[in-house]
Amino acid sequence: MTIRERDDVDESEVAKRELTLEGTKLFPRAFTEMPEIVRGDGAYVYDSNGNEYFDAIAGNQCSNIGHGVSEIAEAAREQISRLEYTSSVLFVNDRSQEFAEKMARFLPDGFEHTWMVSGGSEANESAIKMAREYHRETGNPEKHVVVGRQLSYHGNTLGTLQSAGMPARREPFVPMLKGWPTAPAAYPYRCRYCGDEDECAERGAECAKRLEERIRDVGPEYVSAFIAEPIVGAANAAAVPGDDYFRIVREICDEYDVLWIADEVMSGMGRTGESFAVEHWDVAPDIITSAKGMGAGYTPIGGTMPREHVAKVFAEKEDGFSHGHTYSFNPTSSAIASAVLDYMAEHDVVENARRVGEYTRDRFEEFYEYEFVGDVRGKGLMLGVEFVGDRETKEPLEGGGPEFRQQLLEIALSNRVTVYPGGGSVDGTRGDHVLVTPPLTITETQADEMMNRLHATFEEVDSRLR
Ligand SMILES: Cc1ncc(COP(=O)(O)O)c(C=O)c1O
Repeated sequence: MTIRERDDVDESEVAKRELTLEGTKLFPRAFTEMPEIVRGDGAYVYDSNGNEYFDAIAGNQCSNIGHGVSEIAEAAREQISRLEYTSSVLFVNDRSQEFAEKMARFLPDGFEHTWMVSGGSEANESAIKMAREYHRETGNPEKHVVVGRQLSYHGNTLGTLQSAGMPARREPFVPMLKGWPTAPAAYPYRCRYCGDEDECAERGAECAKRLEERIRDVGPEYVSAFIAEPIVGAANAAAVPGDDYFRIVREICDEYDVLWIADEVMSGMGRTGESFAVEHWDVAPDIITSAKGMGAGYTPIGGTMPREHVAKVFAEKEDGFSHGHTYSFNPTSSAIASAVLDYMAEHDVVENARRVGEYTRDRFEEFYEYEFVGDVRGKGLMLGVEFVGDRETKEPLEGGGPEFRQQLLEIALSNRVTVYPGGGSVDGTRGDHVLVTPPLTITETQADEMMNRLHATFEEVDSRLR
């Protein structure tokens, strides 16, 4: 296979759909105009004008095994023909049990059980309720506060928005939120605690220690959990903590009887080159949550996976966990997610993410040739680029912000590649970055092709900034 050059890309217009009140019966995310996608195949998606895009964000960081995998379609067809749904209040079904068995083998040691929901927000909402109920059952009925971190995102429900979250997504709802405390981000590029960037990237001890202050501010008797993404997603473009960070977090959580929830909605299911990102540091959280890659875009599914000491409390409780949804444990999603795990094992997908991830991460260093690139970071195939106006002072891009990010997106689409721009890492508002998370099944040759299209995008941004 040859690397497709920019010249080979179809020059026809990006197919767009008017999403005005009159133009659609959808209530879309925004009443605006959007590119329209009609088909996917492997690492590519196609719009209704026939343009091919390299899906460098794997849908929304979920299409981990690529688009259009026929084995998954077959598993879905087979399950829907046999049993599409059954109540999880009255019955247990064979498929959800089978999926949980496979998850137990995929999870780090000490994690055996999977609570199933329909997505990432529900997985985290379940985790914070699970932590609360765990403490209530173990003689600490006052514990209910969840400490989050700055520059994090755990979902769009009111419960998950209480613990930080992206400012733009929180802001309209602030009066409805409790405003739980946040510890500093583990953010080597701009850490204010560790002394310098290298120290934070290598150890990350001082920013980790700040968690203790937050717990003491609230009063440990009220704090039930600490929630953090091991490698941050949309809120801070693949920021990776130093090697001591989570070891110190673990010690602090143990000291104050606080459950550590590792939000692996994005970083889990092989994305970073390990099954779960916490495995990079050999430390065990109390609860892991995941979603996205679990259904790999083929079905909405998420999971909340407690370690055994947490699961045991609910096993001993007559009426179990006081939570649940209609679509929890449903056989169709379970069968699909189970087929995704089989596919991942057969094709050694996690190892591919590690190997092609290392290769791509090395190539990301090339982006320093653009003056507006301040930092490149990430692990496996969860990679990020932060933009700056001045590389020395790390001042954010002048003229950055939502409009710049929209332009970046449009330039990327015109270069036939999807990207995930975000911002606010400097002070909640200023600062721009982009997240790159292709399917975990891509080859090095495809990574090169993605790089060509990203280079073409950055070159165009660079010339427009001058
Ligand atoms: C780290 C993290 N947690 C939670 C969520 C919320 O997941 P969902 O959109 O499936 O509700 C996301 C979504 O982007 C995420 O990246």
